[in-house]
Amino acid sequence: MKTLGKNAEPVPRLALSHKRRLPYGAAMSEVDRIAVVLLAAGRGERAGGGEPKQYRTLGRLSVLARALGSLAVHERIGPVVLVVAPGEESRARAAIGQTADEVRIVTGGATRRESVTAAVAALSGDEPPRHVLVHDSARPFVPRAALDRLIAALDAGAAGVIPVLAVADTLVRREDGAVVPRDGLLRVQTPQGFRLDLLREAHDRWGAAQEATDDAQMVRALGHEIAMVEGDVRMEKITTADDFARLAALNGIAAEPRTGTGYDVHRLEPGRPLWLCGIEIAHDHGLSGHSDADVAIHALVDALLGAIGDGDIGFHFPPSDARWRGTPSSTFLEFARDRIAQHGGRIAHVDLTIICEAPRIGPHRNAMRERLANLLAVDADRVSVKATTTEGLGFTGRREGIAAQATATVLIEG
Ligand code: CTP
Ligand code: MG
Repeated sequence: MKTLGKNAEPVPRLALSHKRRLPYGAAMSEVDRIAVVLLAAGRGERAGGGEPKQYRTLGRLSVLARALGSLAVHERIGPVVLVVAPGEESRARAAIGQTADEVRIVTGGATRRESVTAAVAALSGDEPPRHVLVHDSARPFVPRAALDRLIAALDAGAAGVIPVLAVADTLVRREDGAVVPRDGLLRVQTPQGFRLDLLREAHDRWGAAQEATDDAQMVRALGHEIAMVEGDVRMEKITTADDFARLAALNGIAAEPRTGTGYDVHRLEPGRPLWLCGIEIAHDHGLSGHSDADVAIHALVDALLGAIGDGDIGFHFPPSDARWRGTPSSTFLEFARDRIAQHGGRIAHVDLTIICEAPRIGPHRNAMRERLANLLAVDADRVSVKATTTEGLGFTGRREGIAAQATATVLIEG
Protein backbone atom coordinates (compact mmCIF):
# COMPACT_ATOMS: atom_id res chain seq x y z
CA MET A 1 0.00 0.00 0.00
CA LYS A 2 1.43 3.36 -0.95
CA THR A 3 1.66 6.31 1.33
CA LEU A 4 -0.22 9.50 0.59
CA GLY A 5 1.86 11.35 -1.95
CA LYS A 6 1.67 15.04 -2.68
CA ASN A 7 -0.28 14.27 -5.81
CA ALA A 8 -2.96 12.24 -4.10
CA GLU A 9 -6.35 13.65 -4.86
CA PRO A 10 -7.97 15.43 -1.92
CA VAL A 11 -11.56 14.63 -1.04
CA PRO A 12 -14.02 16.84 -2.86
CA ARG A 13 -14.52 20.18 -1.21
CA LEU A 14 -17.23 19.89 1.39
CA ALA A 15 -18.79 23.33 0.99
CA LEU A 16 -20.65 22.71 4.21
CA SER A 17 -22.27 26.13 3.94
CA HIS A 18 -24.52 24.91 1.11
CA LYS A 19 -25.75 22.17 3.40
CA ARG A 20 -27.22 24.56 5.93
CA ARG A 21 -30.47 23.98 4.15
CA LEU A 22 -32.44 20.78 4.14
CA PRO A 23 -33.09 19.25 0.70
CA TYR A 24 -36.68 20.50 0.69
CA GLY A 25 -35.49 24.04 1.23
CA ALA A 26 -36.33 24.65 4.90
CA ALA A 27 -33.49 26.32 6.79
CA MET A 28 -31.68 23.97 9.15
CA SER A 29 -30.71 25.43 12.48
CA GLU A 30 -27.26 24.81 13.88
CA VAL A 31 -28.72 22.65 16.59
CA ASP A 32 -30.14 20.21 14.02
CA ARG A 33 -26.82 19.74 12.29
CA ILE A 34 -24.98 16.71 13.57
CA ALA A 35 -21.42 17.19 14.75
CA VAL A 36 -18.74 14.64 13.91
CA VAL A 37 -15.85 13.51 16.07
CA LEU A 38 -13.43 11.78 13.73
CA LEU A 39 -10.75 9.83 15.56
CA ALA A 40 -7.32 9.64 13.97
CA ALA A 41 -4.95 9.82 16.92
CA GLY A 42 -4.06 6.12 17.06
CA ARG A 43 -0.73 4.63 16.06
CA GLY A 44 -2.18 1.79 14.00
CA GLU A 45 0.34 -0.65 15.42
CA ARG A 46 -1.52 -3.83 14.45
CA ALA A 47 -1.68 -2.71 10.79
CA GLY A 48 2.09 -2.13 10.60
CA GLY A 49 3.46 -0.47 7.48
CA GLY A 50 5.55 2.58 8.20
CA GLU A 51 2.87 5.13 9.06
CA PRO A 52 -0.46 5.03 10.89
CA LYS A 53 -3.18 3.28 8.88
CA GLN A 54 -5.40 6.38 8.63
CA TYR A 55 -2.71 8.19 6.58
CA ARG A 56 -2.11 5.34 4.17
CA THR A 57 -3.91 5.28 0.84
CA LEU A 58 -6.66 2.95 -0.19
CA GLY A 59 -6.82 3.43 -3.93
CA ARG A 60 -6.24 7.12 -4.69
CA LEU A 61 -7.32 8.56 -1.37
CA SER A 62 -6.06 8.29 2.18
CA VAL A 63 -8.13 6.22 4.59
CA LEU A 64 -8.73 9.41 6.58
CA ALA A 65 -9.92 11.38 3.54
CA ARG A 66 -12.34 8.59 2.65
CA ALA A 67 -13.74 8.41 6.19
CA LEU A 68 -14.24 12.17 6.30
CA GLY A 69 -15.66 12.33 2.78
CA SER A 70 -18.18 9.54 3.36
CA LEU A 71 -19.62 11.41 6.37
CA ALA A 72 -19.36 14.94 5.01
CA VAL A 73 -21.49 14.25 1.93
CA HIS A 74 -24.56 13.96 4.15
CA GLU A 75 -26.52 17.23 4.32
CA ARG A 76 -27.19 16.87 8.07
CA ILE A 77 -23.50 16.83 8.97
CA GLY A 78 -22.28 19.96 10.75
CA PRO A 79 -19.01 20.82 12.48
CA VAL A 80 -16.26 18.23 12.26
CA VAL A 81 -13.61 17.79 14.94
CA LEU A 82 -10.70 15.70 13.78
CA VAL A 83 -8.55 14.24 16.55
CA VAL A 84 -4.91 13.60 15.69
CA ALA A 85 -1.81 12.54 17.58
CA PRO A 86 0.46 15.28 18.96
CA GLY A 87 2.52 16.91 16.19
CA GLU A 88 0.45 15.42 13.34
CA GLU A 89 -1.74 18.41 12.53
CA SER A 90 -0.03 19.31 9.27
CA ARG A 91 0.07 15.68 8.16
CA ALA A 92 -3.66 15.47 8.80
CA ARG A 93 -4.37 18.71 6.92
CA ALA A 94 -2.40 17.40 3.95
CA ALA A 95 -4.36 14.14 4.07
CA ILE A 96 -7.76 15.87 4.03
CA GLY A 97 -6.77 18.59 1.55
CA GLN A 98 -9.39 21.17 0.64
CA THR A 99 -11.70 20.30 3.48
CA ALA A 100 -9.22 21.58 6.04
CA ASP A 101 -10.86 24.95 6.71
CA GLU A 102 -14.19 23.30 7.58
CA VAL A 103 -12.57 20.88 10.01
CA ARG A 104 -11.27 21.70 13.47
CA ILE A 105 -8.21 19.69 14.41
CA VAL A 106 -7.50 18.88 18.05
CA THR A 107 -4.80 16.81 19.73
CA GLY A 108 -5.86 13.44 21.06
CA GLY A 109 -4.81 11.42 24.05
CA ALA A 110 -3.05 8.15 24.78
CA THR A 111 -6.27 6.12 24.51
CA ARG A 112 -9.27 6.29 22.22
CA ARG A 113 -11.41 7.39 25.17
CA GLU A 114 -9.08 10.30 25.95
CA SER A 115 -9.12 11.31 22.28
CA VAL A 116 -12.92 11.51 22.34
CA THR A 117 -12.78 13.52 25.57
CA ALA A 118 -10.53 16.09 23.85
CA ALA A 119 -12.92 16.37 20.89
CA VAL A 120 -16.02 16.76 23.04
CA ALA A 121 -14.35 19.65 24.88
CA ALA A 122 -13.83 21.35 21.51
CA LEU A 123 -17.55 21.09 20.68
CA SER A 124 -18.90 23.70 23.06
CA GLY A 125 -19.87 26.72 20.98
CA ASP A 126 -22.68 29.22 21.53
CA GLU A 127 -25.18 26.92 19.92
CA PRO A 128 -23.68 23.43 19.91
CA PRO A 129 -25.42 20.78 17.84
CA ARG A 130 -27.79 18.51 19.74
CA HIS A 131 -26.22 15.34 18.40
CA VAL A 132 -22.78 14.03 17.59
CA LEU A 133 -21.44 11.05 15.65
CA VAL A 134 -18.20 9.53 16.92
CA HIS A 135 -16.34 7.69 14.16
CA ASP A 136 -13.08 5.78 13.80
CA SER A 137 -11.15 7.14 10.82
CA ALA A 138 -9.88 3.56 10.46
CA ARG A 139 -13.34 2.82 9.02
CA PRO A 140 -12.96 4.54 5.63
CA PHE A 141 -16.41 3.68 4.23
CA VAL A 142 -19.75 4.71 5.72
CA PRO A 143 -22.60 3.81 3.39
CA ARG A 144 -25.23 6.52 3.21
CA ALA A 145 -28.00 4.12 4.23
CA ALA A 146 -26.17 3.29 7.46
CA LEU A 147 -25.78 6.99 8.20
CA ASP A 148 -29.50 7.53 7.55
CA ARG A 149 -30.40 4.74 9.99
CA LEU A 150 -28.25 6.29 12.73
CA ILE A 151 -29.60 9.79 12.17
CA ALA A 152 -33.20 8.53 12.14
CA ALA A 153 -32.68 6.92 15.56
CA LEU A 154 -31.27 10.16 16.96
CA ASP A 155 -34.13 12.17 15.46
CA ALA A 156 -36.55 9.71 17.10
CA GLY A 157 -35.09 10.63 20.50
CA ALA A 158 -32.45 7.99 21.23
CA ALA A 159 -29.84 8.94 23.83
CA GLY A 160 -27.34 7.00 21.80
CA VAL A 161 -27.31 4.63 18.81
CA ILE A 162 -24.82 2.05 17.57
CA PRO A 163 -24.56 0.11 14.31
CA VAL A 164 -24.35 -3.63 14.98
CA LEU A 165 -23.81 -6.81 13.02
CA ALA A 166 -24.68 -10.39 13.89
CA VAL A 167 -21.81 -12.80 14.57
CA ALA A 168 -21.62 -15.46 11.86
CA ASP A 169 -18.76 -17.65 13.08
CA THR A 170 -18.87 -20.10 15.94
CA LEU A 171 -17.20 -18.56 18.96
CA VAL A 172 -15.13 -20.48 21.50
CA ARG A 173 -13.23 -19.53 24.60
CA ARG A 174 -9.47 -19.38 24.22
CA GLU A 175 -8.65 -21.27 27.41
CA ASP A 176 -10.82 -24.37 27.00
CA GLY A 177 -12.40 -24.24 23.55
CA ALA A 178 -15.90 -24.17 25.06
CA VAL A 179 -18.50 -22.73 22.68
CA VAL A 180 -19.90 -19.30 23.52
CA PRO A 181 -23.48 -19.10 22.19
CA ARG A 182 -23.38 -16.48 19.45
CA ASP A 183 -27.13 -15.78 19.37
CA GLY A 184 -26.85 -13.22 22.12
CA LEU A 185 -23.75 -11.53 20.67
CA LEU A 186 -23.39 -8.61 18.30
CA ARG A 187 -20.41 -6.84 16.75
CA VAL A 188 -20.41 -3.08 17.30
CA GLN A 189 -19.20 -0.61 14.66
CA THR A 190 -18.89 3.15 14.34
CA PRO A 191 -20.17 5.82 13.67
CA GLN A 192 -21.97 5.86 17.00
CA GLY A 193 -24.48 8.64 17.59
CA PHE A 194 -25.21 10.42 20.86
CA ARG A 195 -26.88 13.40 22.36
CA LEU A 196 -23.88 15.67 22.78
CA ASP A 197 -24.81 16.66 26.35
CA LEU A 198 -24.94 12.99 27.38
CA LEU A 199 -21.66 12.14 25.70
CA ARG A 200 -20.04 15.07 27.48
CA GLU A 201 -21.48 13.98 30.81
CA ALA A 202 -20.31 10.40 30.24
CA HIS A 203 -16.77 11.58 29.61
CA ASP A 204 -16.83 13.96 32.58
CA ARG A 205 -17.92 11.20 34.90
CA TRP A 206 -15.82 8.31 33.63
CA GLY A 207 -13.00 7.48 36.00
CA ALA A 208 -9.56 7.35 34.46
CA ALA A 209 -8.94 4.06 36.24
CA GLN A 210 -11.21 2.22 33.84
CA GLU A 211 -10.80 1.98 30.07
CA ALA A 212 -13.61 1.99 27.50
CA THR A 213 -13.18 0.93 23.88
CA ASP A 214 -16.28 2.74 22.67
CA ASP A 215 -18.55 5.55 23.81
CA ALA A 216 -21.83 3.65 23.93
CA GLN A 217 -20.71 1.74 27.00
CA MET A 218 -19.90 5.04 28.70
CA VAL A 219 -23.30 6.61 27.96
CA ARG A 220 -24.97 3.36 29.01
CA ALA A 221 -23.12 3.59 32.32
CA LEU A 222 -25.08 6.80 32.97
CA GLY A 223 -28.25 4.70 32.85
CA HIS A 224 -29.36 5.52 29.30
CA GLU A 225 -30.54 2.98 26.81
CA ILE A 226 -28.55 2.73 23.60
CA ALA A 227 -30.51 2.06 20.41
CA MET A 228 -29.19 -0.37 17.83
CA VAL A 229 -29.44 -0.19 14.05
CA GLU A 230 -28.15 -2.54 11.39
CA GLY A 231 -24.44 -2.01 10.63
CA ASP A 232 -22.75 -2.80 7.33
CA VAL A 233 -19.82 -5.07 6.47
CA ARG A 234 -18.46 -2.31 4.23
CA MET A 235 -18.10 -0.19 7.36
CA GLU A 236 -15.62 -2.53 9.02
CA LYS A 237 -12.44 -1.25 10.58
CA ILE A 238 -8.95 -1.54 9.17
CA THR A 239 -7.06 -3.28 11.94
CA THR A 240 -4.45 -5.51 10.27
CA ALA A 241 -2.52 -5.15 7.00
CA ASP A 242 -4.89 -7.52 5.12
CA ASP A 243 -7.88 -5.30 5.84
CA PHE A 244 -6.84 -2.70 3.24
CA ALA A 245 -7.34 -5.07 0.31
CA ARG A 246 -10.41 -6.69 1.88
CA LEU A 247 -12.18 -3.36 2.38
CA ALA A 248 -11.16 -2.10 -1.05
CA ALA A 249 -12.73 -5.21 -2.59
CA LEU A 250 -15.88 -4.95 -0.43
CA ASN A 251 -16.34 -1.34 -1.48
CA GLY A 252 -15.58 -1.85 -5.16
CA ILE A 253 -12.33 0.12 -5.12
CA ALA A 254 -10.48 -1.45 -8.02
CA ALA A 255 -7.80 -0.18 -10.35
CA GLU A 256 -9.07 0.43 -13.88
CA PRO A 257 -6.86 -0.52 -16.82
CA ARG A 258 -6.30 2.06 -19.59
CA THR A 259 -4.39 1.47 -22.79
CA GLY A 260 -2.50 3.92 -25.01
CA THR A 261 -0.69 3.52 -28.30
CA GLY A 262 2.16 5.49 -29.85
CA TYR A 263 3.89 5.64 -33.22
CA ASP A 264 6.91 7.59 -34.44
CA VAL A 265 9.34 7.78 -37.36
CA HIS A 266 12.75 9.43 -37.69
CA ARG A 267 15.01 9.74 -40.71
CA LEU A 268 18.35 7.91 -40.84
CA GLU A 269 21.41 9.96 -41.73
CA PRO A 270 25.05 8.93 -42.02
CA GLY A 271 27.49 9.85 -39.32
CA ARG A 272 24.98 10.61 -36.52
CA PRO A 273 24.85 8.78 -33.19
CA LEU A 274 22.03 6.23 -33.01
CA TRP A 275 19.94 6.27 -29.82
CA LEU A 276 17.29 3.62 -29.32
CA CYS A 277 15.50 2.90 -26.01
CA GLY A 278 17.84 5.19 -24.15
CA ILE A 279 21.06 3.45 -25.18
CA GLU A 280 23.56 4.42 -27.85
CA ILE A 281 24.12 1.78 -30.51
CA ALA A 282 27.19 1.57 -32.75
CA HIS A 283 25.97 1.97 -36.35
CA ASP A 284 27.03 3.80 -39.50
CA HIS A 285 23.80 5.82 -39.51
CA GLY A 286 21.92 7.68 -36.78
CA LEU A 287 18.49 9.25 -36.50
CA SER A 288 17.94 12.92 -37.18
CA GLY A 289 15.61 15.05 -35.13
CA HIS A 290 15.35 17.91 -32.73
CA SER A 291 16.18 15.93 -29.58
CA ASP A 292 18.40 12.84 -29.64
CA ALA A 293 15.73 11.41 -31.99
CA ASP A 294 15.24 8.22 -29.99
CA VAL A 295 12.27 7.03 -32.03
CA ALA A 296 11.53 4.11 -29.71
CA ILE A 297 11.22 6.28 -26.62
CA HIS A 298 9.13 8.81 -28.53
CA ALA A 299 6.59 6.13 -29.48
CA LEU A 300 6.61 4.91 -25.90
CA VAL A 301 6.03 8.37 -24.45
CA ASP A 302 3.02 8.83 -26.72
CA ALA A 303 1.62 5.46 -25.65
CA LEU A 304 2.00 6.38 -21.96
CA LEU A 305 0.47 9.84 -22.40
CA GLY A 306 -2.28 8.28 -24.51
CA ALA A 307 -3.23 5.90 -21.70
CA ILE A 308 -4.02 8.86 -19.43
CA GLY A 309 -5.39 11.13 -22.17
CA ASP A 310 -2.68 13.68 -21.55
CA GLY A 311 -1.77 14.96 -25.03
CA ASP A 312 1.35 13.78 -26.80
CA ILE A 313 5.09 14.34 -26.81
CA GLY A 314 4.88 17.25 -29.26
CA PHE A 315 2.35 19.01 -27.06
CA HIS A 316 4.54 18.83 -23.96
CA PHE A 317 7.91 19.27 -25.73
CA PRO A 318 7.27 21.32 -28.92
CA PRO A 319 10.07 20.91 -31.49
CA SER A 320 9.74 24.69 -32.02
CA ASP A 321 11.05 25.22 -28.49
CA ALA A 322 14.84 25.57 -28.49
CA ARG A 323 14.97 24.20 -24.93
CA TRP A 324 14.54 20.64 -26.18
CA ARG A 325 17.33 20.74 -28.79
CA GLY A 326 19.62 17.76 -28.23
CA THR A 327 17.66 16.72 -25.12
CA PRO A 328 18.12 13.06 -24.19
CA SER A 329 14.75 11.38 -24.74
CA SER A 330 15.07 9.76 -21.32
CA THR A 331 13.90 13.15 -20.00
CA PHE A 332 10.64 12.81 -21.94
CA LEU A 333 10.10 9.27 -20.67
CA GLU A 334 10.65 10.29 -17.06
CA PHE A 335 8.18 13.12 -17.60
CA ALA A 336 5.52 10.68 -18.89
CA ARG A 337 6.20 8.36 -15.95
CA ASP A 338 5.63 11.24 -13.50
CA ARG A 339 2.45 12.37 -15.27
CA ILE A 340 1.03 8.89 -14.83
CA ALA A 341 1.78 8.99 -11.10
CA GLN A 342 0.12 12.42 -10.92
CA HIS A 343 -2.99 10.97 -12.56
CA GLY A 344 -3.17 8.31 -9.84
CA GLY A 345 -1.92 5.64 -12.23
CA ARG A 346 0.78 3.02 -12.32
CA ILE A 347 2.37 1.35 -15.30
CA ALA A 348 1.31 -2.26 -15.67
CA HIS A 349 3.09 -3.03 -18.94
CA VAL A 350 4.63 -1.49 -22.05
CA ASP A 351 5.27 -3.20 -25.37
CA LEU A 352 7.47 -1.68 -28.04
CA THR A 353 8.15 -2.70 -31.64
CA ILE A 354 11.10 -1.20 -33.53
CA ILE A 355 10.75 -1.41 -37.32
CA CYS A 356 14.04 -1.35 -39.28
CA GLU A 357 16.32 -3.42 -41.52
CA ALA A 358 19.41 -2.45 -39.54
CA PRO A 359 20.87 -2.41 -36.99
CA ARG A 360 19.83 -5.77 -35.57
CA ILE A 361 17.95 -5.18 -32.32
CA GLY A 362 18.21 -8.70 -30.85
CA PRO A 363 21.70 -8.30 -29.37
CA HIS A 364 20.57 -5.10 -27.58
CA ARG A 365 17.13 -6.23 -26.46
CA ASN A 366 17.99 -7.02 -22.85
CA ALA A 367 19.97 -3.84 -22.35
CA MET A 368 17.05 -1.88 -23.83
CA ARG A 369 14.51 -3.54 -21.53
CA GLU A 370 16.68 -2.88 -18.50
CA ARG A 371 17.21 0.76 -19.46
CA LEU A 372 13.51 1.43 -20.11
CA ALA A 373 12.47 -0.39 -16.93
CA ASN A 374 14.94 1.70 -15.02
CA LEU A 375 13.61 4.96 -16.48
CA LEU A 376 10.00 3.92 -15.86
CA ALA A 377 10.76 2.64 -12.34
CA VAL A 378 9.14 -0.74 -13.06
CA ASP A 379 10.47 -4.30 -13.18
CA ALA A 380 11.95 -5.40 -16.51
CA ASP A 381 9.27 -8.07 -16.88
CA ARG A 382 6.80 -5.21 -17.39
CA VAL A 383 8.75 -4.02 -20.43
CA SER A 384 8.75 -5.76 -23.80
CA VAL A 385 11.03 -4.77 -26.71
CA LYS A 386 10.51 -6.39 -30.10
CA ALA A 387 11.77 -5.69 -33.62
CA THR A 388 10.79 -6.47 -37.16
CA THR A 389 11.88 -5.64 -40.69
CA THR A 390 9.50 -4.77 -43.52
CA GLU A 391 11.10 -7.22 -45.95
CA GLY A 392 12.83 -4.45 -47.84
CA LEU A 393 9.54 -2.67 -48.52
CA GLY A 394 8.77 0.99 -47.91
CA PHE A 395 10.91 3.66 -46.28
CA THR A 396 12.08 1.34 -43.53
CA GLY A 397 12.91 -1.29 -46.14
CA ARG A 398 14.96 1.27 -48.07
CA ARG A 399 16.74 2.14 -44.80
CA GLU A 400 15.64 5.76 -45.05
CA GLY A 401 14.32 5.79 -41.51
CA ILE A 402 13.32 3.81 -38.45
CA ALA A 403 9.75 3.51 -37.18
CA ALA A 404 8.56 2.45 -33.74
CA GLN A 405 5.20 1.64 -32.27
CA ALA A 406 4.26 1.12 -28.66
CA THR A 407 1.41 0.08 -26.41
CA ALA A 408 1.16 1.04 -22.73
CA THR A 409 -1.20 -0.37 -20.14
CA VAL A 410 -1.73 1.85 -17.13
CA LEU A 411 -3.79 1.03 -14.03
CA ILE A 412 -5.67 4.02 -12.64
CA GLU A 413 -6.25 3.67 -8.89
CA GLY A 414 -9.91 3.51 -7.88
N1 CTP B 1 -7.67 6.33 18.27
C1 CTP B 1 -7.50 7.64 18.71
N2 CTP B 1 -6.71 7.88 19.78
C2 CTP B 1 -6.06 6.89 20.43
C3 CTP B 1 -6.24 5.55 19.99
C4 CTP B 1 -7.06 5.30 18.91
O1 CTP B 1 -8.05 8.55 18.11
N3 CTP B 1 -5.28 7.20 21.44
C5 CTP B 1 -8.48 6.07 17.10
C6 CTP B 1 -7.70 5.42 15.95
O2 CTP B 1 -7.03 6.40 15.16
C7 CTP B 1 -8.77 4.67 15.19
C8 CTP B 1 -9.84 4.39 16.24
O3 CTP B 1 -9.50 5.16 17.39
O4 CTP B 1 -9.33 5.42 14.14
C9 CTP B 1 -9.95 2.91 16.58
O5 CTP B 1 -8.78 2.47 17.21
P1 CTP B 1 -7.83 1.29 16.70
O6 CTP B 1 -8.46 0.54 15.60
O7 CTP B 1 -7.36 0.55 17.91
O8 CTP B 1 -6.63 2.11 16.03
P2 CTP B 1 -5.15 2.27 16.53
O9 CTP B 1 -5.12 2.46 18.00
O10 CTP B 1 -4.55 3.34 15.68
O11 CTP B 1 -4.51 0.87 16.11
P3 CTP B 1 -3.66 -0.14 17.04
O12 CTP B 1 -4.52 -0.42 18.23
O13 CTP B 1 -3.45 -1.33 16.15
O14 CTP B 1 -2.38 0.57 17.36
MG1 MG C 1 -5.87 0.90 19.35
